[in-house]
Amino acid sequence: MTEENRARQIICAIDTSDRDEAVALAGALSGQVGAIKLGLEFFAACGPAGVREVADGGAPIFLDLKLHDIPNTVAGAVRAAGACHPFMITIHAAGGAAMMRAAAAASMRAAPDSGASRPLLVGVTVLTSFDRDDLGATGVGGALDDQVRRLAALVQDCGLDGVVCSAHEIAILRRQCGADFKLVVPGIRPGWSSADDQKRIVTPADAVRQGADYLVIGRPITRSDDPAAAAGRIAAEMAAAHA
Ligand code: C5P
Repeated sequence: MTEENRARQIICAIDTSDRDEAVALAGALSGQVGAIKLGLEFFAACGPAGVREVADGGAPIFLDLKLHDIPNTVAGAVRAAGACHPFMITIHAAGGAAMMRAAAAASMRAAPDSGASRPLLVGVTVLTSFDRDDLGATGVGGALDDQVRRLAALVQDCGLDGVVCSAHEIAILRRQCGADFKLVVPGIRPGWSSADDQKRIVTPADAVRQGADYLVIGRPITRSDDPAAAAGRIAAEMAAAHA
């Protein structure tokens, strides 16, 4: 795969509530990454208008809203979010089958303008901030990996496009869910950048080798003196490792 194609697999997480900062970063990264991820922090501060302003920079938007509510409310939120023309939206798999099916149906109708493609709908399984004790405290017994696999199967059965997963789950979910199921992976660090607060990190080259479709990378790019160059360096390393 070429460096340009590898760049399309990079989703840059812009974690800020500052609209000007997000707009400037997205503009600088235009053409260097496949998408920009905006999460709840940005959405709560700047709303859909802020999202549209970032999108004007040219990169597709991954709207990481991690929705979790009754089916009717989540379906409505997916439809409403469609007005921002996101490339990808997240919902919590723990919201259950009815919620995910309602969201999947809504995402099919979330491309209001002719020519726009529907957003990819991706499930969040178990947050990586959870350990086994946290999971047990919510009433879910057994191993954390088993819960991840169970929820990924439910996500797939409900017609969603893929899951967000940690790097150490890539291989097992790729085997379980097949080649077309999208695996979106955060916790990625190039060898030359700081780990920050990420504990179980892998390099971009390793993540794609194991079968990741999209890599969510924030601070190694956004905190770099030259974000576009950092993104380019990551894409070049991915391409070189898989020439
Ligand atoms: O700066 P960094 O590369 O650590 O950013 C990673 C992004 O991925 C952040 O937006 C973070 O919230 C998100 N994320 C994560 N781990 C997860 C799920 C999402 O780091 N399990």
